[in-house]
Amino acid sequence: MNKDMAETLIHTDAGTRMGNLMRRYWVPALMSNEIATPDGPQVKVQLLGEKLLAFRNTDGKACLISEFCSHRGVSLFFGRNEENGIRCAYHGLKFDGDGKCVEVPSAPKACEHMHIKGYPCVERGGIVWTYMGPADKKPEPPELEWCNLPESHVFVSKRIQYSNYLQAMEGGIDTSHVSYVHRYEVDNDPMHKGVKGLDYIKADGNVVFEIEKNNFGLTLFGRRNGEPDSYYWRITQWLFPWFTLIPPFGHHALGGHIWVPIDDHSCWAWSMNWQPNQPLSNEEREAMEAGLGIHVEYEAPGSFVPKSNYKNDYLMDRQAQKEKRAYSGVFGFSAQDYSLQESMGAIQNHAEEKLLPTDKAIVMARRMLHEAAVGLEKGVEPPALDAKDQRVRAAGVLLKRDIDPVAWAQDNLSDGLNQPLFSI
Ligand code: FES
Ligand SMILES: [Fe+2]
Repeated sequence: MNKDMAETLIHTDAGTRMGNLMRRYWVPALMSNEIATPDGPQVKVQLLGEKLLAFRNTDGKACLISEFCSHRGVSLFFGRNEENGIRCAYHGLKFDGDGKCVEVPSAPKACEHMHIKGYPCVERGGIVWTYMGPADKKPEPPELEWCNLPESHVFVSKRIQYSNYLQAMEGGIDTSHVSYVHRYEVDNDPMHKGVKGLDYIKADGNVVFEIEKNNFGLTLFGRRNGEPDSYYWRITQWLFPWFTLIPPFGHHALGGHIWVPIDDHSCWAWSMNWQPNQPLSNEEREAMEAGLGIHVEYEAPGSFVPKSNYKNDYLMDRQAQKEKRAYSGVFGFSAQDYSLQESMGAIQNHAEEKLLPTDKAIVMARRMLHEAAVGLEKGVEPPALDAKDQRVRAAGVLLKRDIDPVAWAQDNLSDGLNQPLFSI
């Protein structure tokens, strides 16, 4: 990728091209249960380079405002969450959930000059989402499948990743790596094991991709050999600008991720699993809570820092690597991914990469993001603002060799949430 394009895609602070683009979408900010109780403890949140503070007000509404007091810049993390606002601990200025200053004890008339930033929030799928863009451009809230299922059907977690969002998200787009770094894990993980699709994934590490550009982003069709007369297709979606879905594994819960910049050197990797038609079983939920599947165990509860991380070489086990229990020596799907992605450096040197045919989807996603970021600067409205387009579902399916998967998907996946689930 050339330097100009990389520079555009990587930086997301306020005022940057990509930052402006991302601010036109609902941003996952934090878990709803991080601010579980009205008037409970507020939480620091950094998104797209902005330092913010989340709290649940007296009325039970999730709020997100600038972290810092407009008076002399003190962090409102030390403030008091009471009576529908945060009161700064230093001199008692008070801000409501919109960032409006509602009280200046020492100079009541100064109030109207003391406002700070406040962003609207909605809650969907156990996540507080915020909108950081121009008020008159706010899209409808997200409609991804798991956003509108009962709580019992969904599990959501997040972790900090010490790399730029782009190289993290590209790992979510690139499904060809499953045949390598995750190769042994899939046999033992309770949320992947024992399904037919794995035989095909392991037998054929040479995935051939077809990619379709559409309203929500991209559909990726990954072809592996199936039976002598069929191909095994793993069909998945990248939803603009940061959602990836995972092709399903048999009867196991469906999965997906969201990749959200914290700043240029770190991002939130959100991971979600859901059963579309039934509650998650106790076993499934327990395994997810224990950090199995696409989730992680934390260094300390609530830290969202993974237990295996760069400070401990991701708990690399060379013996397990030799014995073919962990392909890279690292255990855990997520750790296998982020260890490799962080090893690229916090910001990958894109000028030095040499891409291969399996990177076609990554190239197309980069182009779409770049085109939209540059276009927005010239007044062109960004794509995928219609939440209804997010109502799609990934699939894993065996199709006769002469069937065109794009046409098949048109008939069987285009209204994903009203059509059967295809998974083997
Ligand atoms: S710094 Fe917040 S009230 Fe003075
Ligand atoms: Fe992966």
